[in-house]
Amino acid sequence: MATLKPISTLLLFFLLLSTSAAKPGKRVRAHKPCKKLVFYFHDIIYNGKNAKNATSAIVGAPAWGNRTIMAGKSHFGNMVVFDDPITLDNNLHSTPVGRTQGFYLYDKKDIFTAWLGFSFVFNSSKHEGSINFAGADPLMNKTRVIFMIGGTGNFFMSRGIATLMTDAFEGEVYFRFRAKISLYECW
Ligand SMILES: *[C@@H]1O[C@H](CO)[C@@H](O)[C@H](O)[C@H]1NC(C)=O
Ligand SMILES: *[C@@H]1O[C@H](CO)[C@@H](O)[C@H](O)[C@H]1NC(C)=O
Ligand SMILES: *[C@@H]1O[C@H](CO)[C@@H](O)[C@H](O)[C@H]1NC(C)=O
Ligand SMILES: *[C@@H]1O[C@H](CO)[C@@H](O)[C@H](O)[C@H]1NC(C)=O
Repeated sequence: MATLKPISTLLLFFLLLSTSAAKPGKRVRAHKPCKKLVFYFHDIIYNGKNAKNATSAIVGAPAWGNRTIMAGKSHFGNMVVFDDPITLDNNLHSTPVGRTQGFYLYDKKDIFTAWLGFSFVFNSSKHEGSINFAGADPLMNKTRVIFMIGGTGNFFMSRGIATLMTDAFEGEVYFRFRAKISLYECW
């Protein structure tokens, strides 16, 4: 009896080990990222003069503003719809791997802060499918973390976070975001 017990414990241990081992196509949950990716996206805001190059447009403005120029009071009440090219480096003219499509709205009167809801829609041989993001974007912070809700294609059922950084900001017309994506659930 005394020798049987350690053997059965050992057997149980191996049984548990074999059933919990990740199989291909099976969901993996980890406290460390299972995948990391970095992308840049470029936003050229329509300002009444750059219709040809603009990738975004103000679609909503408060009573004290208009849809050509961002409103005062930290742009509070402005809503922008965008379709920005995604590149693998910080060069606007690099071949895009997809588009960032969605909206942002400014939601605080005394400080620049926005709320983001958008998707990365990929169109390249390297990445296929889409990933969806949502979250608060306190623009004055050097880095901001938003949630990656899920995706399709290569990113089917993936979840994680995106750390956003303003990589360039040129007046009210151009900005570039760097998005470092860390997936914590991969399939
Ligand atoms: C559009 O972009 C091109 C290339 O970057 C630039 O030469 C041109 O001045 C831009 N046009 C407008 C209207 O912003
Ligand atoms: C929009 O607002 C700006 C700033 O107040 C003003 O200069 C501009 O003329 C306005 N444009 C339109 C089309 O109303
Ligand atoms: C996807 O990329 C191809 C090749 O670069 C291009 O012809 C096509 O228009 C792109 N499709 C979309 C939806 O951007
Ligand atoms: C933004 O920065 C402030 C000050 O450093 C910090 O307290 C706050 O938690 C940050 N917000 C986010 C969403 O990261």
